[in-house]
Amino acid sequence: MNFQLHNYQPDTEDLKTVVIKGLQHSPKQLHPKFFYDEIGSKLFDQICQQPEYYIPTVEQEIFAQYADEMIECISSNCVIIEPGAGSTKKIRFLLERMQKNLPTMYVPMDISAEHLQRSAQQLANDYPELSVHAVCVDHTKPFQLPDEIPAHRRVLFYPGSSLGNFKPHEAIDFLQELRNQGGDDSALLIGIDTKKDSDVLNHAYNDAAEVTAAFNLNLLTRINSELGTKIAVDRFAHHAFYNKAKSRIEMHLVSKQEQTLHILQHEFHFDAGETIHTENSYKYSVNEFQTLVTKAGWVCDHVWLDDKHYFGVYFLRAAK
Ligand SMILES: C[S@@+](CC[C@H](N)C(=O)[O-])C[C@H]1O[C@@H](n2cnc3c(N)ncnc32)[C@H](O)[C@@H]1O
Repeated sequence: MNFQLHNYQPDTEDLKTVVIKGLQHSPKQLHPKFFYDEIGSKLFDQICQQPEYYIPTVEQEIFAQYADEMIECISSNCVIIEPGAGSTKKIRFLLERMQKNLPTMYVPMDISAEHLQRSAQQLANDYPELSVHAVCVDHTKPFQLPDEIPAHRRVLFYPGSSLGNFKPHEAIDFLQELRNQGGDDSALLIGIDTKKDSDVLNHAYNDAAEVTAAFNLNLLTRINSELGTKIAVDRFAHHAFYNKAKSRIEMHLVSKQEQTLHILQHEFHFDAGETIHTENSYKYSVNEFQTLVTKAGWVCDHVWLDDKHYFGVYFLRAAK
């Protein structure tokens, strides 16, 4: 058998603590990692198919154009570790082109247990000669990788601009953690969104089919189902906009009216129009991103951009 699941899944207690703390905070906030229950993961996959959400298409274009160069950088006889692997679609693109020089092991990591198990198992079925060790973990907390990982070069793969969900100082901490987990010989192939016209960004996070809205609102549905609360989800609306001064998309849930939420033994008052801040997605120029990764102990060897410079894929090497 070439597939194994290591489940270190965070529990409901964590959601409870985060919800209480986040709604006591001023302004109210929730952590985006809780978007990804089984329904949220499926909704994210649907977001990736919306025409306004350009990230997957543009990133794919860059992979298609520069796959050979990327694979040369990665080199064979390595272990590929992918935090936030989700549906494992993007690694397939590289694996197809690696042909006979597959990595010695692929380690997809994700917080969304069922989604990870399904997608990683399918990948293992499709690549019977590849050893797949899926790790269900919250990577915002200290995490351990499976003992089964062989002592080969570790190449981390972090596409989709997921790093943009961290504030810049947290992004540095996370990249340092990846550097520590990877070791002195490691590399990181990472995709990150660039700064661009506000209209393009605003449309991307406000798709006409309202899938991003459903994804944002599902956070409240998840709280109801896991914490047994009775939040009236229809009393909230999705709001996403580009905050140019902070170079980030902000996603919020806006209370449509004055209301009080009863969550466990707590009451949370909302004025009409008051929001819960649910996600940031930071955008970086090439220079800014190179400065950031340098602070985290990485050296930038390559940058690949699409023609419009909408997105960047970087190959980083651990600084000695
Ligand atoms: C923006 S999606 C990107 C998915 C995929 N890498 C792509 O590029 O399409 C973020 C992924 O990271 C996972 N994720 C979010 N927060 C996480 C956390 N704290 N620990 C582990 N995985 C997390 C989600 O479940 C989701 O699959």
